[in-house]
Amino acid sequence: MKNYLSVKDIDALSQWVVEAKELKKAPKAHTVLGENKTLGLLFFNNSLRTRLSTQKAALNLGMDVMIMNFDKEGWALEFEDGTIMNQGTSEHIKEAAQVVSQYCDVLAVRAFPTLNDKAKDKAEIVLHGFAKHASIPIINMESSTGHPLQALTDAITLEEHKKKPRPKVVLSWAPHPKALPHAVANSFIEMMQLQNADFIITHPEGYELDKAITKEVPIVYDQEKAFENADFIYAKNWSSYTPYGKVLSENPNWMITKQKLGNAQFMHCLPVRRNVVVEDAVLDSKQSIVIEQANNRTYAAQLVLKKILER
Ligand code: CP
Repeated sequence: MKNYLSVKDIDALSQWVVEAKELKKAPKAHTVLGENKTLGLLFFNNSLRTRLSTQKAALNLGMDVMIMNFDKEGWALEFEDGTIMNQGTSEHIKEAAQVVSQYCDVLAVRAFPTLNDKAKDKAEIVLHGFAKHASIPIINMESSTGHPLQALTDAITLEEHKKKPRPKVVLSWAPHPKALPHAVANSFIEMMQLQNADFIITHPEGYELDKAITKEVPIVYDQEKAFENADFIYAKNWSSYTPYGKVLSENPNWMITKQKLGNAQFMHCLPVRRNVVVEDAVLDSKQSIVIEQANNRTYAAQLVLKKILER
């Protein structure tokens, strides 16, 4: 595997999950693989889990790691070709990507969407800019439209916690005061389409995601009905896709409560706003598997790095 840019780069999901679980059992079994290799992590946005778990994954493989908070410490990058750079941008992606390629063997990038320019966000100018101009493999640590490391994590977590071969999994929109990206929901949906599961999405009308991603996945606008007999409820807020990047509703009735959860297990990528997205009684119950889910971020990242190093 050269790059890990989206869920489409997973060639055999069930096999990947098996391999990730093996890494979890013996995280230090492949320390020779990363010897004398350096992973660069470029963050254009904040992170807790992605930053630390990806770093830990690299250390488990014997790699060195360099981290840069590009939004705070880097030069403002230019992505357009032919621009007369006499305004705010100081360095072109063409030079930046080639320079970083000399310092690192693998590069991971986090770059969120603008949420005000749909075309620009769909073009993934930062992630694809590095993929185009770097000469080393690129890993997506959450881009404008996808979070494939999170989706692989979620697949591992579902496999570990499912109690039947074909569980019912519900992705539920939940309220949030800020306009949030679509990336986690998009990649979760793409991943779930590779799973043996009864998968549905529930959200208020107006929160339909990109049809190119949701495809034929059933959408149920009645959350209570959607949750009937659910084995897993995965909560996530996202802003509207059309109109783009708006908070259309903060309806608290969509918050996940213990009463709504029934017997389902609760998942969320974190960070999560307590008593807005989900109530304390859910997060503090044994039915919440969000902490184990976050732990699996390490093994998802480690598997991706291992596959890149072995190529
Ligand atoms: N789930 C996730 O990506 O967490 P961070 O934003 O903290 O990295």
